[in-house]
This record gives sequence, C-alpha cells and structure tokens, in this order.
Amino acid sequence: MANERNSIRPTNGIKYESYFSKLSLKRTRTPLRATGDNIPSPDVCYLSGGFPPAEMFPIVHTEITLRDGTKLNLDKDTMEETQQYGDTYGMAGLHKCLVDLVRRVHNPPTLNKPNDDNGLGVLISAGGQSALHHCFNIVLSEGDTLLVQNPTYATMIYIVQPIGATVIGVESDKDGIISSKMEELLENWEQHHKTARRPRVLYCVPTGDNPRGASWSQTRRQEVYNICRKYEMLIMEDDAYYFTHFTRPLPPSLLSLDVDGRVIRFDTFSKILAPGIRLGYVSAPKPVIELLATVYQTSVLFPSQLSQVFVLSLLRHWGNEGFLRQGERTAALLKRQANYILEAANKYLKDVCEWDEPKAGMFLWVKFKRLADASLVVEKCKQRGVLIVAGHFAIPQVRVAPFVRLAFGMPTKEELFRACKIIGEVARELEQGS
Ligand SMILES: Cc1ncc(COP(=O)(O)O)c(C=O)c1O
Repeated sequence: MANERNSIRPTNGIKYESYFSKLSLKRTRTPLRATGDNIPSPDVCYLSGGFPPAEMFPIVHTEITLRDGTKLNLDKDTMEETQQYGDTYGMAGLHKCLVDLVRRVHNPPTLNKPNDDNGLGVLISAGGQSALHHCFNIVLSEGDTLLVQNPTYATMIYIVQPIGATVIGVESDKDGIISSKMEELLENWEQHHKTARRPRVLYCVPTGDNPRGASWSQTRRQEVYNICRKYEMLIMEDDAYYFTHFTRPLPPSLLSLDVDGRVIRFDTFSKILAPGIRLGYVSAPKPVIELLATVYQTSVLFPSQLSQVFVLSLLRHWGNEGFLRQGERTAALLKRQANYILEAANKYLKDVCEWDEPKAGMFLWVKFKRLADASLVVEKCKQRGVLIVAGHFAIPQVRVAPFVRLAFGMPTKEELFRACKIIGEVARELEQGS
C-alpha cells in the first residue's frame, strides 16, 4: 500500500473555502479568546483573559491508580494549570503526544509539511460526536448532499438533516462501500438524483462501523479514496473503532492514503479508554482545523483539561507502544464478546436471521430472513426485557427495514445468550403471525 500511495501525485491546491458552509464562513475569531490562546509567560502582566485566581481551585493534588496498580501523580503545578482556562487546540503536551501518535499510526503524507498552510493540523476535541457535529456544520449548507456508506452511523443523520442537507447512501457490503456502485452513482448523478445537488463530501466509518461491524478491505479503501479524488470530494473519516480492529496489523486509514489533504479524520478515546473521558482528536488540513478552532472559541472553548491531563498522563506513562497495546487489549475483549454473541446467534437465530461476522467494534448487524419490518421485533423484545435497536434508523430515507443492531460490548455471556434466545422466539412468533 505504501508504494501505491507514494506513486500517486497529489492534487494541487484544494480550495477548502469552496467546501465551507455559508454559516461557517461568517465566523471569525473572538478577540477575547485570541489572547487566551497565548501561552502565559512570567514576564507578561496578564490582564486580558478572565482567569480566576488559582487559590480558588479546590484540587491540589491527584493520584491516579491504574488497573495494574501503577500510580501516576499529578502535582500542585500540574493541577493548577489543569484547572485554569486552556488552549482552544488542547493542552500543548497532549497535543504534541497526539501529533506523534498520528505520525506513528498513520504517517499521513500531509503531516510532514510544517510550513504548508494546507498541511495537516490536529485539534483535541470534546469526544468524537461533538467534533462531527461541528464539522458537518462547517462542510454542509442547506440544500447540499452528503454521501454515506449504507447503513451508516444513525446519529449522524440526525445532525445533518436539520442543516437541510440530504443524506444519500451508497450500497456497501462487508468489505465497505462498493466502489463500482459509488463510481456509477457519481458518473450518472443527474440521472439518479434529479433534484439533489452533487455531493462534495463523503462521510464514512471504515473500521468496525456502527452498525455493521464491517471493516473495509485495503482495496476498497484505495478505490474509494481514488473516486473521491476524481470527483473532488472531501472525506470525513470517522474511525471511532479503529483500534478495536480484531486483528493486527491495523488496516491503512484513509488519512494514511491521503496525498491531497482531502481527509478529515475523527479519532476518539471513547472506545479505547473510556467514553466518560469525552475526548477525541481531529486530524485534518489546517484550513479545516482553523475553522473548527474558530467554532470552538464560541462553543466548547476547549475540552475538559481534567480529562486531557488524565489522558496525557496515560500516554506519557505508556508511550505510543503502550497505548497501542491498550488498543490490542480492547480489541481482544471485544473479540471475546463478538465470539459470545456469534455463538448465541448460531444457537438461537440461524433459522430466522443472517449476519456477517463483525471485524471490529461492538455491533452485530442482523437481518431477518422473512420479516420486512424489524421494528416489530424490537417492540416485542422490549416487552420481554431485551433492548435492541431497529436498523432502519441507520439507513437514509428508509422507514422500514428487516435489520436490527445488537450491541455486544457490555452484556455478559449469559445476557447475550438470553437476548438471542428471546429475539429468536419473537421472530418465530411474528413469522407465524402472532
Ligand atoms: C461511528 C461513531 N462515531 C462517533 C461516535 C461518538 O463517539 P464519542 O463517544 O467520541 O462522542 C460513536 C459512538 O457510538 C460512533 O459509533
């Protein structure tokens, strides 16, 4: 893949502004926040930012105990800095660690252009979801079209539709977006969609996607990237489940193939450390990062520094290799969970359902063989104490579908077996008309 990547000549000069929404182009930096982003220096009298006195902060020292018994100490100075207002892009120490991690994991062709205004930048976000929300508002205006894999991450549809943009799915299978279908759709766009504008952005979840648990093959990744180049599309690569990939080596991210600077990549610590930490990071061409930072200045300001300092301590303690081992441990746990649910599904669901084995993440995407509307199953299961999600939520412009999403990450083996048994019973009853 690396050779293939290097042989592609970058497209020069993507005009990022032409992708930005009318609303986001109106945003400018707030003068108050601009001064707050300066690193405080002992020689400067700092009367500009609304910084509270440090004596107010209630926490003076923190000791974090890790699962293996290791203790990490956060001293008085660190706690003082942590509890103060921070930098829009994230704490400098963590920011540096994440740039190193991005380089180590993806080695993006656009990262090593420090003086290039369009080179890669990184912003620490308050989780993946909020970064996606802001970014959709940056790249979509009313009347725009967003292309997605089908099925897609359902919550995304609920962000995009109120913007007034249309979400259109491209047929996908267990190897990802079917590139020939995507090519055909874009080549003959006006025949397929008489009123919808041509899409200029693709949103995708290439590894362990929610809801399908699929991981795109290397070939599909390169093919989809090439199609986006041909049709001058930006790519929002939401790789929330990247490190949960059940096998190693990890697949090449779209960012790692991105010779042009057309990929906006979203990582999160939710699936690899803890969702309560509410931290992620966006790796994208600098003009996108700058606009995101502008939006942050009037919204989030910056992600919780208590969370940032915890993650920074972990990364400093583990180093990149230790962090990657944490990813392997998480992947092994989820693989164990996947094996449980596959065992249960094989025992109780085989006659009524079909599915593909998940390759990463925490979801089994199940199709009922003879039931067109899976929401009836969802309702009946709820009455019997089994909560599952109807699949039509994940399919743009569809209200009825034969799919459900089973989230297997947290339940015990016994719960997964009980759930599959009940789902099977309900499906059989519905098939028989009761
Ligand atoms: C595909 C996908 N993207 C983003 C998110 C949001 O992640 P975060 O917890 O970082 O906000 C989720 C959460 O389930 C997800 O499944």
